[in-house]
Amino acid sequence: MKIFIDTANRDLIKEWAATGIIDGVTTNPSTLSKEGQNSKEVLLDICRIVKGDVSIEVVEKEPEAVYKQALEIAQLASNVVVKIPFAKEYLPVIARLAHEGIKLNITLIFSPVQVLLVAKLGVTYISPFIGRLEDVGGDGIGLVSDAMHIVHEYDLSSKILAASIRTVDHWNAVMAVGADVVTLPPAVLAESVVHPLTLKGIEKFDQDWLSLGKKNLLS
Ligand code: E4P
Repeated sequence: MKIFIDTANRDLIKEWAATGIIDGVTTNPSTLSKEGQNSKEVLLDICRIVKGDVSIEVVEKEPEAVYKQALEIAQLASNVVVKIPFAKEYLPVIARLAHEGIKLNITLIFSPVQVLLVAKLGVTYISPFIGRLEDVGGDGIGLVSDAMHIVHEYDLSSKILAASIRTVDHWNAVMAVGADVVTLPPAVLAESVVHPLTLKGIEKFDQDWLSLGKKNLLS
């Protein structure tokens, strides 16, 4: 499973990139809006910090403007993936961009039919939203599971990127259904690396070793 970090905050991206576990980044207009006015500089920095795929979302609305902005975003760096929200009027644009070899991440996916439609257009990533679907009583993990089934059953090349992850349990659950990629908010990443029994175990090893009164392990 690939692990992406779900933020536009450069300090947090640097901190987690240094662990070596981060394969990419997802940003969106909401996370980017928290990083101040210079969005281009922020995005270029992120593309330099992380070598893997960096999703950058279009903010234009009209289909032809979305197409042009997608091309501009794609020129920013070699590891850019252009993020486009699902909409019927964007399907021709998505088909055109995919045909032209632009890597795309189709976002705000809430149903299996949406997964099938954009997978048929040959997009690189499809992002089902777990947390937001659960907020309205839907089955977010079921959606990821259905999405994995659809791409395998119909031999489609798109990767399923589990998004809108709110808890470590969400992460465990999307792993269990075999999601190709998960994008994790820094808070979930931070929570995931702490286990009380690991901390307790280290403490016990330290105590036992110190009780021996020996300085060097190998001499
Ligand atoms: C990532 O690509 C999505 O934009 C993000 O996971 C959305 O998360 P949220 O529903 O917590 O805002």
